[in-house]
Amino acid sequence: MVKYAILGFGVVGRGLAEVMADQREKLAAAAGEDMELGYILVRHDYPAGPFQDKLIRDFSLIENDPSVAVVAEVIGGTDAAYEYSRRALMAGKSVVSSNKQLVAEHGAELAALAREHGVSYLFEGSVGGGIPLLRPLCRCLAANRIDEICGILNGTTNYILTAMAQKGQAYADALKTAQQLGYAEADPTADVEGIDACRKTAILADLAFGVNVDPADIPTRGITAVAPADLELAQALDGAVKLLGRAARAGEAVCAFVEPHFIPQGHILASVNGVMNGCAIRGSAVGEVVLCGPGAGSHPTASAVAADVADAVRHRADPMIPDLGAPGGRLLPADELCSRWYVRAQCGPEAVSAAFPGAEPVYGSTGECGFVTAAMLDRRQLEKKLAAVNGRAAYRVLA
Ligand code: HSE
Repeated sequence: MVKYAILGFGVVGRGLAEVMADQREKLAAAAGEDMELGYILVRHDYPAGPFQDKLIRDFSLIENDPSVAVVAEVIGGTDAAYEYSRRALMAGKSVVSSNKQLVAEHGAELAALAREHGVSYLFEGSVGGGIPLLRPLCRCLAANRIDEICGILNGTTNYILTAMAQKGQAYADALKTAQQLGYAEADPTADVEGIDACRKTAILADLAFGVNVDPADIPTRGITAVAPADLELAQALDGAVKLLGRAARAGEAVCAFVEPHFIPQGHILASVNGVMNGCAIRGSAVGEVVLCGPGAGSHPTASAVAADVADAVRHRADPMIPDLGAPGGRLLPADELCSRWYVRAQCGPEAVSAAFPGAEPVYGSTGECGFVTAAMLDRRQLEKKLAAVNGRAAYRVLA
């Protein structure tokens, strides 16, 4: 019997305590021994509930308890979460985390600390919520050179875009519902501005390409400028607008960026809707693999974290530490990538044909048109032509 501790009792922390209790026997079989919840570290009082007797406020109780083998950090942010993760690792405890900001910004350093102290550092729940994504990428696809990863990596924005496109819901109402359902970050700016997807893209790039990417270097645009007209026109053009995080091998460098895309209906990611996330991985041997599932929410995220707790217990003699790569890798600017583009514009069909020969505009309820360009333009070339059609928005087309 070993103990584990949970740091944080928010959406994920509570879900983790519940899932670990519900599936105690199954998880014991996975871990190789029974696991008992020792402590839940909280910052404030909670109303009486099933885990009341486990709530503590003093981290040193966990740090100094030799029976605690694993600490699950689900606080979020990089302040207390960073300090407690370091202290837990230095105290010889494995750390598992769903905290994408912490992993993206300090993961390599925490992994090094874990290596030094002979314990595991796992973070399956930090990308894709409940989707098994990082283990398949690192282990099941070990025989592949990974060439590209492209994913819908934020449940909140996918929920908002889907609700706007399919139910005609207003942006603010859809965001409010996503917050009520526990999908959004404490400050939803991180979701809607693409920051959360950027952190997840950085983690995927680290693992796939062995280059520790600083999320601050990844060009990032969120969904706040996506208009209802874009969603209407995208449907008329037989596609959907989705926020994608992409990271691709580019010679010795990596190209990574986060921005809204037009996805043609033929691509499986176009039908990943609501809170679901989906991630396409292109490998040299396997071709393209697409993993889909719930990308946010209490129990789905807890599902990933709980499995990490069990793996950390099972691997006490042989710690698991995914390789987050070495710093100093070169990031190529995404603007140089040639793409087809979806364009929303305010002009007649003649102006479209003159600026974008072959493009076939469709007109929506606002009087604006939408069309898809040929595969020839990098962003600077595109921007020169947008003025000629009164371009209002332009998103890359996922090939
Ligand atoms: N706010 C995040 C999302 C939570 O909406 O995807 C899961 O990382």
